[in-house]
Parts: sequence; structure tokens; C-alpha cells
Amino acid sequence: MAVTSPDADILCTDLVRIFRVVTGSGPDVEVQALQGLNLRIDPGELVAVVGASGSGKSTLLSILSSLDRPTAGVAWVAGHDLLTMKEKERVSFRRHSVGFVWQQTSRNLLPYLSAAENVAAALAVAGTVSGTAARRTRVRELLDLLEVGHCAERTPGEMSGGEQQRTAIAVAIANAPRVLLADEPTGELDDTTSAHVLEALRGVNRELGVTTLIVTHDPGVSEHVARTVQIRDGRTSTEVLRSTRTDEHGAEQHVAEEYAVLDRVGRLQLPDEFVAALDLRDRVRLSLEPDHVQVRPGRGADAPGVATGESEDAS
Ligand SMILES: Nc1ncnc2c1ncn2[C@@H]1O[C@H](COP(=O)(O)OP(=O)(O)OP(=O)(O)O)[C@@H](O)[C@H]1O
Ligand SMILES: [Mg+2]
Repeated sequence: MAVTSPDADILCTDLVRIFRVVTGSGPDVEVQALQGLNLRIDPGELVAVVGASGSGKSTLLSILSSLDRPTAGVAWVAGHDLLTMKEKERVSFRRHSVGFVWQQTSRNLLPYLSAAENVAAALAVAGTVSGTAARRTRVRELLDLLEVGHCAERTPGEMSGGEQQRTAIAVAIANAPRVLLADEPTGELDDTTSAHVLEALRGVNRELGVTTLIVTHDPGVSEHVARTVQIRDGRTSTEVLRSTRTDEHGAEQHVAEEYAVLDRVGRLQLPDEFVAALDLRDRVRLSLEPDHVQVRPGRGADAPGVATGESEDAS
């Protein structure tokens, strides 16, 4: 287990979270929400974690925001070891090191305060800006950064869902956190409004350099971030990296490349479509080639489809 603070702003190694569910009748059932998840996010990165319902996304964010504790593994956020952290450090961590945006707009903002008062309250708790005038200026700057300056005097009930979420981002970054965590921040919004909120998160990441992790079931998020990590069955399985290259004619090309994630002990998850296409199951054959590794169906040598097409590769 790592004992010194890592360079990464978020580091999860072999993270496990098991829930014990009391059934009443019969024995208790164990749910493995995270099954050895690995994730590294460097300072200033903007990363999306996507996965189906029940894949462990909210469980991961609850742990990273210190609302929940992992069963085993390593989890560091903004230089804090979440497994060994004591209560006093936890309070300071939540007050100064991280910001959160939740799916339910109602969970992010106090309903009886205006947008400006919500941000001012967050600033007061963080204690990052002293003096009434300085605080008022900062509130205005944050609302303008999120393009909700026009909502300053409105309560959440008087704002659209997108405006509420952008105000929620202003509240979340009021404490100038090193890390911003967002769980389904666009879950209650339509496509156009979602895109606007995701661009707002991207703007905050770019302008302030805050390390940002967005968790969502919406695969469309990958168009707004440079790196998308896929989580499947409580484990990170694939990553898509997006970049811009200039081709030989000087035109900008957007490139998206998919990678499988290899963990520390060399395990990887094959994409479902690869497994289905070759009907891979139980055992597969591996062979090491000079610059790649081959994975082949592990049926008997005389089985149809095994000998054919491989004779050129086999030495
Ligand atoms: N407190 C809990 N007690 C028991 N099981 C839980 C608890 N919280 C989550 N789980 C289970 O852990 C698994 C992962 O749940 P989680 O909420 O992290 O998924 P998710 O990816 O956020 O899903 P969604 O997209 O629906 O929000 C699920 O099987 C869920 O039923
Ligand atoms: Mg969830």
C-alpha cells in the first residue's frame, strides 16, 4: 500500500467495496460494488467515468468524496489517504480539497437562498475570501464564470435545471478545491442543456486548472472530455483518449483511440464485442509476438476455426 502521497490527484488501486445486504429471511447477501478498480487522474485532468446502471459509479464517487469508506485497496484524493484519514482530516478535506456536484439539483443548492447567497454561503464555510466586499466580488466572478450572473438574485425554484447545475458548479468551486467530483451532473437535463453544463465543467477545468472527474451513464460525455474511462462490473475496463492532430494538409483531425486497461498484475477485460465475435469463453490461448500479444479461442487444436487462419502466425 502506498504510504506517501502520490503525484496523481486521484489514485485508486485495487479498490474494493462490498455491501452486506440484510435480507431478513435467509443468509445475508454480499454485493461487490467495486471489484478491484484502478484509476489514476493527474493534476489538471478532466476525465469522465462512464458505465451502465449498477456498475459502481456512485459507489466510487461516495468513496472519493469521503462519504463512504472502501472495504479494501488504496484511494488517495488531493494528497489525502482516504483509508487512514481521521475525522478531523476528513472535515478539512471536504471543506478545502474537494468540491461536489450531484445529480439531484435539489441536493446541490439551498432552496430558500438565491444563487448569490448559495455561493456566498459556500465561500463563508470555506473561509477562502475574507471581507464582505471581496466576498461579493468573488460571488459575482464565480456566477459570471458559469454564465449564471443573471440568476444572482433568483432562488433555485426560479431557475432552469441547467442554470441550477451551473450555479451548483459555482458553489462546488467556491472553496477553490484541488479536485471537483460530479456524479451524473446532467442526469436530470435534456441533451442541449447537458452539453452546456458539460462545457461549463470543461471551462472551469481549463480556467482554474481544477482536476475534474465526471461520472455518468451518458456515453455522449466523451465528446466533451479528453479521456473517458469505462467502468464495468466495478472495474475499469477500457479508456478512450481524444486528441487533435494536424494532418499533412494542415487540417485539424479529431482522433479517438480506445485502449484496454491493464492492471498492476497484468489483468485486462476484453470488450464484450470481441468476446462475442470469436465466441471466447472459459479459457483462451495467448501467444507473445514481437510487438503484440495474440488472444485466440481456447478450444481443442482440432476444433473448427482454430487451425484455419492461424497457420501463418504460428511458428
Ligand atoms: N448501500 C448499498 N447497499 C447495498 N448495495 C448497494 C449499496 N449501494 C450500492 N449498492 C449496489 O452496488 C452496485 C453499484 O451501485 P452504484 O450505485 O455504485 O451504481 P451506479 O453505477 O452509480 O448506477 P446508476 O447508473 O444506476 O446510478 C449495485 O449493484 C447496487 O445495487
Ligand atoms: Mg449512480
